[in-house]
Amino acid sequence: MATTADLARTATSLTASHLVCFSPACRATYPVTEVIYTCPACGSLLEAASDFSKLNAAALKKTWRERRMNNTPIDQSGVWRYRDLIPFLDDEKHVVTLREGNTPVLNAPRAAQYSGMDAVRFKHQGFNPTGSFKDNGMTAGASQARRLGMSRVACVSTGNTSASMAAYAVAGGLQPIIFIPHGNIAYGKLAQALEYGAKTLQVEANFDQILKLVRVLAEKLGIYLLNSINPFRIEGQKTIMVELMDQLDWQVPDWVIVPGGNLGNVSAFGKALREMKALGLIDRLPRLAVVQAAGSAPFYDYWQHRQPVFPTVEHPETLATAIKIGDPVSWPKAMLEVTTSGGTVESVTETEIADAKAIVGLCGIGCEPASAASLAGLKKLRAAGTITADANVICILTGNVLKDPDYVYRYHTGALEGPGGLIKGSFPNAPIVVPNNPDKIAKILS
Ligand code: F0G
Repeated sequence: MATTADLARTATSLTASHLVCFSPACRATYPVTEVIYTCPACGSLLEAASDFSKLNAAALKKTWRERRMNNTPIDQSGVWRYRDLIPFLDDEKHVVTLREGNTPVLNAPRAAQYSGMDAVRFKHQGFNPTGSFKDNGMTAGASQARRLGMSRVACVSTGNTSASMAAYAVAGGLQPIIFIPHGNIAYGKLAQALEYGAKTLQVEANFDQILKLVRVLAEKLGIYLLNSINPFRIEGQKTIMVELMDQLDWQVPDWVIVPGGNLGNVSAFGKALREMKALGLIDRLPRLAVVQAAGSAPFYDYWQHRQPVFPTVEHPETLATAIKIGDPVSWPKAMLEVTTSGGTVESVTETEIADAKAIVGLCGIGCEPASAASLAGLKKLRAAGTITADANVICILTGNVLKDPDYVYRYHTGALEGPGGLIKGSFPNAPIVVPNNPDKIAKILS
């Protein structure tokens, strides 16, 4: 964790932000120190807003490159290096960092071939300290919790948020309390939460039901809520796009493809991209494509049919448990971002996710099931002609391959049971049991 002494004070120090109601009809503003997650006036989502008028694009690009050379924790962090665009803290001493971000952009020719593209690149958020993109947001949320003087933090999670929150909370001297749907999260993620010392409550309900419960409990017990409804989590996740553009030398790709669950990530991406364009850091927006699992795809349904009421899924189903969410809280923000960018929303089947995941593995990269929705979605969008073969595409991989080893083993041994029955994967790779006999083994290998 960074201490005050560690932290580099820079010319562009952190400045004040405020909270604004996301609803265009309301736009009420609140101090950034108020412990609220939705607008007290109208109940809509909140967002952090900052004055960037004194920032200069060329100077920022130079400063961010220079900070990469520094050894101070705040500059080594792939989130706080870009602190000029997330200036909500009053003092850098609150920062909790595990050197998150700094995730690579990887070329994947095998994935390009699979999806019918000339080239595909993955930005792999699974390289983060706890193995998922949640760390980008959690460093921001946990730092804000410390700034507010909170002692306990809570979240409901399909696994990654809880693993990340547990790590950042204990690193920052806060007590983590996590709520997870009983029996519905991958073991790698549950193991992390236990190891980081989180008080872990397995509730017999699904993610959407537990989120309602946790919101009530957080209010009642004065615990700080760190789900992606928390606007500071979104601010942290913005840096995934800032870092990406920095890595691409500010050459904007045609498409960024991301899996969608609670829809916080795409909301953060879109906000970052709009802010970067307004600042002149980039000259256009990439198109954002959100990909959902077919059994948990309310946003896809809404995108297709634009019903008057958002069509929540009461019993979401998918083996990609990270995105098993039927009532995504950030859908209004996601809708704005996908629309503004000229993007789209796609849905993919369990088999499409499973095979795309195996292909990511065959690239030597690997990812968890939900992450592979991005490649599965790209293949589908390419086949439909929405994305051309020569497009410059970045697929976001959201979590590490080791998050869900049970899924991996079952896929490769033909035992992966999905909501619709056994999944017949096209790229199985079962281990072979052999006798302790060189001749017999040599025969098998030839
Ligand atoms: N991919 C992974 C690996 C995730 O863990 C999540 C969300 C998503 C994609 C979807 O991101 O919700 O911002 O649209 N996981 C949350 C959790 C819900 O509790 O860990 P989103």
